[in-house]
Amino acid sequence: MTNIEKDPYKGVRDFYPEDMASQNHIINTMRKTAESFGYIEYSASVLEPAELYRAKSGEEIVNEQTYTFTDRGGRDVTLRPEMTPTLARMIAKKKKELAFPIRWYSIPNLFRYERPQKGRLREHWQLNVDIFGVEDISAETEIIEVASNIIRNFGVIDDNFEIRINDRALIDETLKEMRLNEDQAYRMKKLLDKKNKIDNFQEEADNIAGKEFNFNPKPSKQITDVINTLKSRGISNTVFDPYLMRGFDYYTGIVFEVFDKSPENNRSLFGGGRYDRLLEIFGEEKIPAMGFGMGDVTMRDVLETYNLIPEYRSSTDLYICTVDQDSIPESDKIADILRKNGVNVAVDKSGKKIGSQIEYADKKNIPFVICIGKDEIDSEQYKLKNLKTGEENSVAIDEIPNTIKRK
Ligand code: HAM
Repeated sequence: MTNIEKDPYKGVRDFYPEDMASQNHIINTMRKTAESFGYIEYSASVLEPAELYRAKSGEEIVNEQTYTFTDRGGRDVTLRPEMTPTLARMIAKKKKELAFPIRWYSIPNLFRYERPQKGRLREHWQLNVDIFGVEDISAETEIIEVASNIIRNFGVIDDNFEIRINDRALIDETLKEMRLNEDQAYRMKKLLDKKNKIDNFQEEADNIAGKEFNFNPKPSKQITDVINTLKSRGISNTVFDPYLMRGFDYYTGIVFEVFDKSPENNRSLFGGGRYDRLLEIFGEEKIPAMGFGMGDVTMRDVLETYNLIPEYRSSTDLYICTVDQDSIPESDKIADILRKNGVNVAVDKSGKKIGSQIEYADKKNIPFVICIGKDEIDSEQYKLKNLKTGEENSVAIDEIPNTIKRK
């Protein structure tokens, strides 16, 4: 006998059917909202050549957080830690054939070697919504609008979240005006990114600057324009945050992050920004690009905080309980007819007592049962029982699909 661990690998999740149902709710809400804004779906493999991330993702993610291995042919391979470089690669490859602007979305699983903690795991699913080929701020406002609408479509109200906005170009300019050289500016941006996680920010900032670091930029025109346009579109829960940096090196302009304002779950939920120059790593001309990534783990925490995950209901609509072995062939035929009419149905062939067959259906959260025996087969009338309400109706087969759908 061997003794293999039953827990999943550290920092990844098993999805039992009830978890899968809430996961599907999260994924479907993301998908529906992205599509409602005219974004279409793409996908790719989880495996990428490691070099894809070395150029512009940033040191922390490449050196500390990727799962990278050498394959049998000696190639360095990485399990994708994010989707943006893959997307840029796909667009660079077919640039000439594609009609711009491009509005694409994807919901990949991503892998990061992180210390598992609340909101951070080693595998997560991440909605990516990106627009390519739009230079002006209509890209920023549209992308933020999609983000805001997803949260609303989950049922979270605007008062409970805040959209923080900054501009990488403004930060670069401000640091230049403060006479920081390139190396100092790079280190300062990494420090600004960590500001909320460390106690001695000012001390470290003064160290990097080699003098007192007085950082107080005013919002750029771009930022004000984005905030005002969003307001005119009914989105007012935005704020300018000069300390918002976002980790990746490839961002070039407006960056944003959505924060949960509840005391129980006060943290960043997701974010994104403009990255006009990422295609340059493929030796291509730059193409303006803007997008965001929204993780399923943080979103699930929010939905749990506000009690917004729908109650579990099996995807099976109807359970046919069979009175005796002789009723099984006819029950199978009835099941076939119902399946052709869009009803998801399972037939009990256990030979157990009717009472325990019904109990089983109830335990599995299947909403409806019918019991089939000689009487039902002869009369072609079936008692359709709603296990939630206890309501019972005598119906013919062709009435079953509609009765079930109405509930
Ligand atoms: P990111 O901020 O690294 O950006 O990730 C986006 C979101 O994915 C996070 O805010 C969080 O919701 C979720 N996430 C990231 N890492 C984890 C983790 N270890 N566990 C659980 N959730 C996680 C990006 O990845 C950019 N590529 C997004 C983007 C798309 N920018 C432009 N287009």
